[in-house]
Amino acid sequence: MSTTPDPSEVPYVRQFCRELSPTLLRAAAALGGFRVEDRDEFDYCELGAGPGDSTCTLAAAYPRARFVGVDLNPAHVTFAREMAERGGLENVRFLQRDFAELGDEQLPPLDFVGAHGVLSWIAPDKQRALIELAASRLKPGGLLYVSYNALPGWAAIQPLRRLLQDAAGTAANPLDRARRALELARVLRDGGAKYFVDSAAAGEMLDAMERVGPAYTVHEYFQEHWRPMYFADVAAQMAAAGLRFAGELPLYRNVQRLTIPAGLEAFFEAPRDRIEAAHLRDFAINMFLRQDVYVKSGLPPDPEAAAELLDGTRFGALVSADKIHRDVRLPQREIHMPGEPFDSLLAVLCARPATLRELSAGASLAPFAVGRLREALIDLLAGDQVTPMAPASNDAHVADRYNRAVLQQPLLEGRPVVLASPVAGTGIAVPGLQAVCLRLLTLVDAPDRPASIRAFVERQPVRLHVRDRPITDPQEQARVIAEEVERFRVQKLPRLAALGVVAAS
Ligand SMILES: C[S@@+](CC[C@H](N)C(=O)[O-])C[C@H]1O[C@@H](n2cnc3c(N)ncnc32)[C@H](O)[C@@H]1O
Repeated sequence: MSTTPDPSEVPYVRQFCRELSPTLLRAAAALGGFRVEDRDEFDYCELGAGPGDSTCTLAAAYPRARFVGVDLNPAHVTFAREMAERGGLENVRFLQRDFAELGDEQLPPLDFVGAHGVLSWIAPDKQRALIELAASRLKPGGLLYVSYNALPGWAAIQPLRRLLQDAAGTAANPLDRARRALELARVLRDGGAKYFVDSAAAGEMLDAMERVGPAYTVHEYFQEHWRPMYFADVAAQMAAAGLRFAGELPLYRNVQRLTIPAGLEAFFEAPRDRIEAAHLRDFAINMFLRQDVYVKSGLPPDPEAAAELLDGTRFGALVSADKIHRDVRLPQREIHMPGEPFDSLLAVLCARPATLRELSAGASLAPFAVGRLREALIDLLAGDQVTPMAPASNDAHVADRYNRAVLQQPLLEGRPVVLASPVAGTGIAVPGLQAVCLRLLTLVDAPDRPASIRAFVERQPVRLHVRDRPITDPQEQARVIAEEVERFRVQKLPRLAALGVVAAS
């Protein structure tokens, strides 16, 4: 047996959590029947903000809003502050604090509180503190986002956590302990251990941990207080604090017909209390990770909230028209979006953000009943082919300055770079080589690019493949990258410019 590594010794993996975007939180609440104003000026606090990627990206996308990131880990807060400073962000601050000890004076009245990957990893008294903080600092109608490991889905994986903890050994470096534990689990699994045979989910989790790296394992599996939770228990705790379940993410989860197995349709048609229905549904789909939105009670649910969201919000696509999928497979169901009115909706939404009110006034969509257009829009949203966008007023200069700073960071480190889009009001993940192209196109003048590409290839070893053939000769690498830059300029840059990720030239 071994001692469990302390996760605070290891910086968490850097990631952008799209679910923290105000656009998605507002959409989830509205689909659940709660109206939230669509504004570009608000106060947002992320609790357990980690190294700050989500908070900084959103701050760059919404320059008129104000952001606070709170985290206990000094290395995280130092990293986040440096990133905000390099990116020239003036609307974000980071507090190195235990959120349980934050005084009221340190936070303004809030419109949004986000806590991704926190609730089921902390002790019960800290959970209560998180919920009470949100309940006391949110304005009436403000939204709280929490994600947590859920039951019953996690029940089958809990023994894997025990196995990893027991196998961690005693090495001084927590990452080495995680590597040792993963190796032992892998040997058991590859040898046909029946636990892994009977629990496919545990095997999938092991694969995911190996993909993301040992820092993830340390944070996810070696937290002393980690414990998966039932939705019904969380909802009851929230209700006691005055926070009402509003909706969930991804957005399709708010659409019953897309969420439950076909065989249980009749069962779920019976009228039920909303919390009970969501709790039962977790058994129907063996829920594993919940991403829930709560609203600070103020006004009662509004039956018109979903229609108002669909009619009055600007929607758009994050990808170009040729990348839109018309057939989308969700965990329980499929969505098929052939022909009209999808063709006409997508023709506009891939070109520019628009509201359904604007769309239905246009010639191509005027023939369709508004109810049919709303249904189609729900399918497009549930299939994540279009997404709610920010209000039109977001200024692009702050995002442009921040994104330039992000592109100066080391690229090609095996994770995508996330850039702020003031148009979409969220972060856009750009894969490594595309980020290199973007850096060359935005930060280097055209005549200097060939020399810059040569210097880049010489400076760092680049793993390049063309049709599975590894390219190792530096001159050939430089030629391949130059071709890639040109392809990117023609095929991808216009979309990123339309999203305000780079200043349009
Ligand atoms: C699993 S990480 C998630 C980080 C980030 N939200 C993300 O999704 O990338 C949890 C974070 O919560 C922070 N944390 C845990 N308990 C905390 C507390 N009581 N006060 C402030 N931060 C806390 C940890 O330091 C860590 O950075």
